[in-house]
Amino acid sequence: MSILVTGGAGYIGSHTCIELMNAGYDIVVVDNFYNSKKESLKRIAELSGKQFAFYECDIRDKKGMDHIFKSEKIDAVIHFAGLKAVGESCQKPIEYYDNNVNGTLALCEVMKDNGCKKIVFSSSATVYGMNNVSPLKETMPTGGTTNPYGTTKFMIEIILADLFKSDNDWSVSLLRYFNPIGAHKSGRIGEDPNGVPNNLMPYITQVAIGKRPFLSVYGNDYDTHDGTGVRDYIHVVDLALGHVKALNRVLSKSGLDVYNLGTGTGYSVLDVVKAFEKASGVTVEYKIVERRPGDIATCYSDPSKAYEELGWKAERGIEEMCEDSWRWQSTNPAGYPD
Ligand code: NAD
Ligand code: UD1
Repeated sequence: MSILVTGGAGYIGSHTCIELMNAGYDIVVVDNFYNSKKESLKRIAELSGKQFAFYECDIRDKKGMDHIFKSEKIDAVIHFAGLKAVGESCQKPIEYYDNNVNGTLALCEVMKDNGCKKIVFSSSATVYGMNNVSPLKETMPTGGTTNPYGTTKFMIEIILADLFKSDNDWSVSLLRYFNPIGAHKSGRIGEDPNGVPNNLMPYITQVAIGKRPFLSVYGNDYDTHDGTGVRDYIHVVDLALGHVKALNRVLSKSGLDVYNLGTGTGYSVLDVVKAFEKASGVTVEYKIVERRPGDIATCYSDPSKAYEELGWKAERGIEEMCEDSWRWQSTNPAGYPD
């Protein structure tokens, strides 16, 4: 079985490539390195002990993508490629809608032309918007997204659902990730953000390594146990394993399924800081600052559907997430080499 992994050089894609090969799948990776480095592909090969096909191509390039489908026998696609920075999406909405929405449309068109109708898509808990109360369930209403990035995920979910409605031979799995953190146990691959990190864990690890002086904690007056925002952090390897389970399902039957991939447990910003300090032995300086616009107090999943239907649940706890994030950051202080 040959699986096309779009965005396979990125953070979640690289971890998923390893788990796919561990599970016996052959992979074909496509990436344009907009937000990743070639080195991550070398390390995927090193960690898996396997070689795989790679194409440097933009998913919007239909001719290039068609060439890949004609050259490789692709059974299904796991679609990670896209832009993901919330703040940047407000500055560059056209780029975000073009890359994420047009990219997915182009991909689906090429898939259809080549008779490949099985896709696992990287969605996000962001599609639940601001008004649902946690634990978030797949049956809750979606929409009301507050930034172009989130709206692209919402739109792509609708596009893929319409595709399935138009042709029930399609098999579509929409995976709503909560907050992926952590890294491969080896410390060889991990999250390598460009510039100033937007997300909590890469910010914490950069403070711990001495690259940034302190963490700004965005508000301590939320209605949570210590006043700071609560999220459902999930180890990236657990997330990767969730993709293998979702893939098994799309390969075995047609249909449209939606799954939360989270742990079901929420931790506050200060809980994460404490867990990280314990795991790393390093003190993380922080200051309480104003709330970040668009943030909500609490967001965590009900992951029971993924357990019932896919037989998947997250196994790795917050300490392991922190230990593995720290191993990656401390052994690769500057991220991947160019
Ligand atoms: P990432 O930026 O590390 O990986 C995305 C990869 O896609 C990169 O390697 C990038 O170079 C590539 N890419 C982007 N546009 C492309 C294009 N047009 N053609 C070919 N390749 C392209 O991001 P990630 O954290 O691994 O996220 C993967 C997916 O999961 C994204 O779709 C993201 O929106 C989604 N997601 C991520 C999170 C998170 O917190 N990391 C949460 C929810 C959903
Ligand atoms: C953010 C995005 C979300 C996206 C997700 C994964 C926003 C509003 N939401 O989610 O759309 O799907 O990332 O990419 O940007 N925090 C700090 N200091 C920091 C960074 C974060 O206190 O420097 C706090 C936040 O206020 C929040 C928690 O840490 O309470 C987690 O933040 P973050 O990692 O950015 O994830 P989300 O906001 O959940």
